[in-house]
Amino acid sequence: MSVMRTKSIEQSIKETDDPDYALKKSLSWLDLTVFGIGVIIGAGIFTFTGKAAQAYGGPAIVISFVIAAVVCALAALCYAEFASTVPVSGSAYTFSYASLGELVAWIIGWDLLLELALGAGVVSQGWSHYANLLLNTMGITLPDVLAPQSKTNPGGQFNLLAFLLIAVLTALVAWGIKESMRVNLVLVGIKLFIVLFVIVAGLAYVKTANYHPFIPPAKPGAPGQGITQPLIQAMLGFTPTTYGLGGIFAGASIVFFAYIGFDVVATTAEEAKNPQRDLPIGILASLVICTILYVAVAFVITGMVKYNKIDPDAALATAFKDVGKSGFATIVSCGAVAGLTTVVMTLIIGATRVLFAMCRDWLLPRGLGRTNPKTGTPVRITIFVGLAVAFIGAYVGNHIDLEEMVNIGTLAAFTLVSIAVPILRHKRPDLPRAFRVPWSPVLPTLAALASLYLMLNLSIETWIRFLVWMALGFVVYFSYGYRKSRLARRAEEERVPSLTRT
Ligand code: ALA
Repeated sequence: MSVMRTKSIEQSIKETDDPDYALKKSLSWLDLTVFGIGVIIGAGIFTFTGKAAQAYGGPAIVISFVIAAVVCALAALCYAEFASTVPVSGSAYTFSYASLGELVAWIIGWDLLLELALGAGVVSQGWSHYANLLLNTMGITLPDVLAPQSKTNPGGQFNLLAFLLIAVLTALVAWGIKESMRVNLVLVGIKLFIVLFVIVAGLAYVKTANYHPFIPPAKPGAPGQGITQPLIQAMLGFTPTTYGLGGIFAGASIVFFAYIGFDVVATTAEEAKNPQRDLPIGILASLVICTILYVAVAFVITGMVKYNKIDPDAALATAFKDVGKSGFATIVSCGAVAGLTTVVMTLIIGATRVLFAMCRDWLLPRGLGRTNPKTGTPVRITIFVGLAVAFIGAYVGNHIDLEEMVNIGTLAAFTLVSIAVPILRHKRPDLPRAFRVPWSPVLPTLAALASLYLMLNLSIETWIRFLVWMALGFVVYFSYGYRKSRLARRAEEERVPSLTRT
């Protein structure tokens, strides 16, 4: 049996008719764009802008945002082509099953779980910082041990706010996707308003002096930086540094987090009314809108507060506090609480849909993936994902910085998806493609190289954790999916029909 076995596109599409695993087709292109913006704008801009400006790029973090956007745009084109060709739930996982074979599909699925489930946990923590700020404004103080961990509260052990958020959202997602989308629409509206508010209101407090130096000169990293330095610096034998040109690229690999999500649009392919046309629109439109907003926000925030004084946890609200506008800070906190809610919810939806696709292919226990006939959603998986995300957001994230792990998992998936575009074109030139990446194979190759380059700018520590996660994935695949997958069973049945008929 070969790990390169592929599942034909026709087969993938046909399986979506199986009533046991049927999802409702209810989403329009507008739903998808809103869904995209809902998941893209989140902790990345509300939290990591501060962290990245302070620790890596200074005001030049604006350039980091542009670099990350270019990498994402290249990958987004590849996602758009795939989503318009293979409109089946599971996004990159399903695309690669059809082009690069089962093992690569498994690797991507495994990466996507890292992106989505871990991402939901990370964003729930960003959410809790803003929610806590709001509670404090209302005079409510949580006991230290239950409050989010931060510089001022190193004793945070169990993040109660993150836990409650995930519990409520999991219930909502299990209840039904259309209902979740409606909630999403309202929250995305609030979030967009707040981001525009930050840009417009903040502009009045920008001091040009804060932009000098725009690119802070590179300085040696902290002693013993060792495995926390970017892999590329170690590979090229550089002394570890922060800021400078290296800082801009390292910053780009961090703020990349802010763009994650356009690819999640593709995970809902099966729930779109007209996926061939609507998915590319949803993916590309949401990415363009968010890029413009991010560059503007980063510019305003680094102009309001000197980069080394920016708050790494609740940057946007604290920037207003710092210029004496506490009322504005409260408005921003309210918006962040509303806005980050949609991100956590959408990432949970994404994680359930990828797991769903993997169960449907029997790479994971298939019983887990059944949809509930009443709600039309995979309820069991949703609960399973909710528990995992709650554990990550409320507990693990207090002890380990997980955002780099989310980034490396996502970038690995981007690399493989980009490579897969020319391969599928070569293998299946006959398939109708409503959207085509221009200049293939040049552009997809550039997309793969750019994603790889950002990966190399992540820390050695992150690489080690990533490799451990991948090794675990291989163990699971070879001990379960390799023998049990639908394709394996089919091949076995063709070989010895009487033995395997069940
Ligand atoms: N892009 C999403 C965020 O920034 C994941 O929260």
